[in-house]
Amino acid sequence: MSYPYQIKSLEQYYEQYEKSVQDPEGFWSEIASHFVWRKKWDKVLEWNFEEPRVEWFKGAKLNITENCLDRHLADKGEQPALMWEPNDPENHHRVFTYNRLYEHVCKFCHVLANNGVKKGDRVLIYMPMIPRLAIAVLACARIGAIHSVVFGGFSAQSISDRLRDARAEFIITSDGAFRGQKDIPLKSIIDDALIGVDFVKKVIVATRTRIPVSMLKGRDVWWEDEFEKVETLGLSDFPAVEMDAEDPLFILYTSGSTGKPKGVVHTCGGYMVYTNYTFINTFQYQPGDVHFCTADIGWITGHSYIVYGPLSAGATSLMFEGIPTWPDAGRFWSIVQKYNVNILYTAPTAIRSLMSYGKDPLEGKNLSSLRILGTVGEPINEEAWNWYYENIGNKKCPIVDTWWQTETAGILITNLAGVTPAKAGWATLPMPGLQPVLVDEKGNEIEETEASGNLCIKFPWPGILRTTYGDHERCRTAYFSAYPGYYFTGDGALRDANGNYKITGRVDDVLNVSGHRIGTAEVENAINMHAGVVESAVVGYPHDVKGQGIYAYVILSGKHLDEEHTRNDINMTVSRIIGPIAKPDKIQFVTNLPKTRSGKIMRRILRKIAENELGSFGDTSTLLDPGVVEEIVQGKL
Ligand code: WTA
Repeated sequence: MSYPYQIKSLEQYYEQYEKSVQDPEGFWSEIASHFVWRKKWDKVLEWNFEEPRVEWFKGAKLNITENCLDRHLADKGEQPALMWEPNDPENHHRVFTYNRLYEHVCKFCHVLANNGVKKGDRVLIYMPMIPRLAIAVLACARIGAIHSVVFGGFSAQSISDRLRDARAEFIITSDGAFRGQKDIPLKSIIDDALIGVDFVKKVIVATRTRIPVSMLKGRDVWWEDEFEKVETLGLSDFPAVEMDAEDPLFILYTSGSTGKPKGVVHTCGGYMVYTNYTFINTFQYQPGDVHFCTADIGWITGHSYIVYGPLSAGATSLMFEGIPTWPDAGRFWSIVQKYNVNILYTAPTAIRSLMSYGKDPLEGKNLSSLRILGTVGEPINEEAWNWYYENIGNKKCPIVDTWWQTETAGILITNLAGVTPAKAGWATLPMPGLQPVLVDEKGNEIEETEASGNLCIKFPWPGILRTTYGDHERCRTAYFSAYPGYYFTGDGALRDANGNYKITGRVDDVLNVSGHRIGTAEVENAINMHAGVVESAVVGYPHDVKGQGIYAYVILSGKHLDEEHTRNDINMTVSRIIGPIAKPDKIQFVTNLPKTRSGKIMRRILRKIAENELGSFGDTSTLLDPGVVEEIVQGKL
């Protein structure tokens, strides 16, 4: 099967783009007609960004797993759907053909049903990168339950917050996770998260590391036991539950500029069409290709480009449990060689980290199967781009620099591999269907082609978020109120004379650390929970490998004799409240923060100090006490 809506030339890209803007409903309904629907839609699109309300394929009925699994069984049943490389290269890898994946997903649906999971229930998933994670996700989708995957680097407190926000009554986890040389005790973290939570009915625990875990009678059950019961009863097929196109498919929590993470909600129909379309076009997937996306399924990239995008396209998707630098920095390259990977999709932070090991880890590795390279998650600097292009792609593989967000479901701005031109450091052109604009401070659309401004989108695409779980007003204020009538991305961008976009980074108080989104307010709240802390201010600064590092200015109460201990304690507090991924890289103790007379912290100044731009701080006349700045500069780390 080839893909009728795969764009094959630059000319065709412009033609399709034009069509998608002139007649969005016609454009998307044509693409959607290539999927399996139980019932076709009554209306392609209804929308209003004021409320906001966006409905795609209204009235249509489907189950996304019939598109990801059932429809491939006839002609691709024996083709690999999911391949898995374990953390330890000495251990066995696994290959799930479409038949086998279908069988496992159906059996696990029975497990879910036997444990009381029904359509509309929320299921929190906290698992390592093992095939059972993908199976759990797909089984939830098949039974109509709303999955909310939480990345393994989040703490018990973060899980507990998400669990309560989503009111998830079911959890799927494992005893532990392998990550390089580390074992992470996932079940025990879940147990901590569940202290004081009385609404969780079942915790299904898969075995992975087999460290001792506590199993509570009546609540905790083993995945393997439950699976065996299903097999003993001879249960196999599980009919997919019919979903409305606009029924929620999943909730994924992500950080914003204020307070607690928001539960971004994606729905069944639009999400399916958009992830599939962007997968096929961005990566120019050809039947039989092996697609290796190195993200964790705990992030949107894993949802869309390990699970739903590739599987809905009948592709072969490779998932990896470990880390790029263990047992050595040649891990990715060994995997490429072992599986004859054709498409490699990773993050700039991974590239920069591997680059720092030089060329030795590439020695003897055959990377000739690679055809297409991709990056996601943060801006890629030219040095990393060139290294990737020359050493990994051997100057033959186009690199797609894909810009998008948790809220957008799939890729919004990118070059299409080998079809539209690449430009190092630039995400380049919008996907068909996507109408980006740059707006100035006042919210006016900038008409000139060559410009810089805040990046907004003025028309819905099928993958746009529908709401933030349990709090629609929050969705409106976070994304649709800064510039009324537009979806505001939170990113700044440049546009060149040819209409290419370069994303320059967040313009709000959100950091991007190793491609992970972290809100400064969240980190400050966590630091402020440490007993000795009076106040803190957190900003980002350029970091060679992570892209951005976290710089915290902290005011302590009383005297602390050992600064190093206090730093470690603060880090431990942040680990407990958010997770190890949010630990500050630098903590500077200060006696005061630069504030305006109205009490607002002037972050602009703190950012400049952290970035080591000590020349001029601009207008500081509104500062309550300008002497504070000098003191902070003196104590800079
Ligand atoms: C940033 C990840 C520059 C951006 C899919 C965005 C990028 C945030 C790129 C979303 C890119 C993502 N170039 N910046 N190619 N891709 N970003 O929700 O700031 O984890 O707003 O989604 O990452 O991060 P999120």
